Amino acid sequence: MGELALEAENLSKTYRDGEKPLTILRGVGFAAAAGETIAIVGRSGSGKSTLLNLCGLLDRPDSGEIRIAGVPASKLSDSGRTALRGRDIGFVFQNYHLLPDFTVLENVMLGGAAARGGGMGAGNRASALDWLERLGLAERRRHRPDQLSGGERQRTAIARALLPNPRLLLCDEPTGNLDAATGDEVSAWLWRAADEAGMAMIIVTHEPALANRADRVLRLEAGKLSADKQPVNDKEG
Ligand SMILES: Nc1ncnc2c1ncn2[C@@H]1O[C@H](COP(=O)(O)OP(=O)(O)OP(=O)(O)O)[C@@H](O)[C@H]1O
Ligand SMILES: [Mg+2]
Repeated sequence: MGELALEAENLSKTYRDGEKPLTILRGVGFAAAAGETIAIVGRSGSGKSTLLNLCGLLDRPDSGEIRIAGVPASKLSDSGRTALRGRDIGFVFQNYHLLPDFTVLENVMLGGAAARGGGMGAGNRASALDWLERLGLAERRRHRPDQLSGGERQRTAIARALLPNPRLLLCDEPTGNLDAATGDEVSAWLWRAADEAGMAMIIVTHEPALANRADRVLRLEAGKLSADKQPVNDKEG
């Protein structure tokens, strides 16, 4: 096992914006080493996306600590968190989150922009083209997202996430909008990319095939996270 890309320690989260407070996480902890893949499973509403957003520094826990490559996020200012996120964390979402008015190439280049301070330069363009090549999208670089299939959109999102060479890739139901065959194809790309880059990858998924491919499966239930020793068999809703 290499260095720890992510350490989540005793995380708690309660949403207080509704009629009554909703406690979603009650002391959740886990760590991901460089090169390790972890699947997080659990029922809809169990807090998987909430946990992923905390790990990605998109939201703050009420208590607990998140360290990215040893750096404790709670000690950082908002701009410090943004910088750490841009440098070390890539995201892949179920709905791709591509910018509709930009081409595939521009979407990938803009993904690296935050991390590198200015994304449209020649160096960034070369890296973006390289990732598009590796993900089989070189021919699609001038297309806009609405001209792509779902699998191609998700591969574009993967290229964008990987461009800054993050230590940690966070995927929230990356195959959730794809048919089974396309989902398998996208997950094969994900694994290959994670392998090549040697990064830690955390995947929230309802797909047993995807979860079982991970080194470890963790289950979120009643606000707690625990090792899931059983192979995941049923598709959960
Ligand atoms: N910003 C928010 N404000 C209030 N409640 C929220 C907020 N975000 C999520 N919740 C609630 O927290 C609970 C957990 O949501 P979350 O999205 O983390 O679940 P999930 O496990 O990802 O579910 P799914 O599998 O359906 O994506 C849900 O009951 C949800 O309604
Ligand atoms: Mg979710």
